[in-house]
Amino acid sequence: MTYDPSKDGAQMDFRQRMSYGDYLQIDQILSAQHPLSVAHDEMLFIIQHQTSELWMKLALYEVNGARQMIAQDRTSEALKMLSRVARIFEQLNSAWDVLRTMTPSEYTQFRDDLGQSSGFQSWQYRLIEYAVGNRNLAMLKPHEHRPDLLELLEAELARPSLYDEVLRRLSRTGLNVPEAVLQRDLRQAWQFDEDVLKVWAEVYRDPSKYWEAYEVAEKLVDFEDYFRRWRFNHVTTVERVIGFKRGTGGTAGITYLRRMLEVELFPELWRVRTEL
Ligand code: HEM
Repeated sequence: MTYDPSKDGAQMDFRQRMSYGDYLQIDQILSAQHPLSVAHDEMLFIIQHQTSELWMKLALYEVNGARQMIAQDRTSEALKMLSRVARIFEQLNSAWDVLRTMTPSEYTQFRDDLGQSSGFQSWQYRLIEYAVGNRNLAMLKPHEHRPDLLELLEAELARPSLYDEVLRRLSRTGLNVPEAVLQRDLRQAWQFDEDVLKVWAEVYRDPSKYWEAYEVAEKLVDFEDYFRRWRFNHVTTVERVIGFKRGTGGTAGITYLRRMLEVELFPELWRVRTEL
């Protein structure tokens, strides 16, 4: 006899109940894939981007949660959220393996259909960058046609970044973070600061004395480590698929992405290693 799970209590009647698909709004998610060409690989391309955006949504949620916890001096709760963010990026990193199964010949079959659209215009990606401290105002431009998105990005620029909140917390615990850093113009990109490096050097020279700061620092480094890997995997996949062609978004492509590899989120935390 074939096994009937309903005999073991599985619920089979959803006429009056919320089902899995209702709760997760699966219909909406699964009806959002509309290839513009007949090329077989376009579906992979669409789903890869959409799933990345979903993971980015969660990453943002967790970064925001962590930032809030730090602002409220609840650092251990923030640490857990930051661990999750690093894991999300690890997940995104593994995802490149799927995309790499698409060859240049396959991509060229539908590339023209993308027009000028590109991940360069991903507002969630920019929000993540802005939230952690990489605030490049030039990146607001592609969103000017969408006042709602511009408002989101501007609101982010008005808030202290994750790194700002960490430095404020260090200051509250008695570490000597300069007033100019605490009062900095939040809209500007973070600039390497010699005095902040000194603060981190003090922490790293005596971890047991500054355990909380030390743990937060290592979580930030962890996050940036995974984030760098994401950028590196992206640029390698891009070179593999389009070589040195210009991007659909209009940049020089590989040259642009390689330049982005040099962006540092928490520069003092990388430099401090040399100081020890
Ligand atoms: C075959 C696959 C892909 C190719 C050929 C590609 C190509 C490119 C290129 C050339 C750029 C530079 C901007 C431009 O001129 O277009 C770019 C930027 C970007 N792409 Fe991709 N990409 C691919 C897959 C992905 C995927 C799966 C994601 C995930 C969401 C993604 C997210 C981004 C982001 C966020 C940027 C902006 C990076 C920055 O400004 O630092 N890309 N991509």
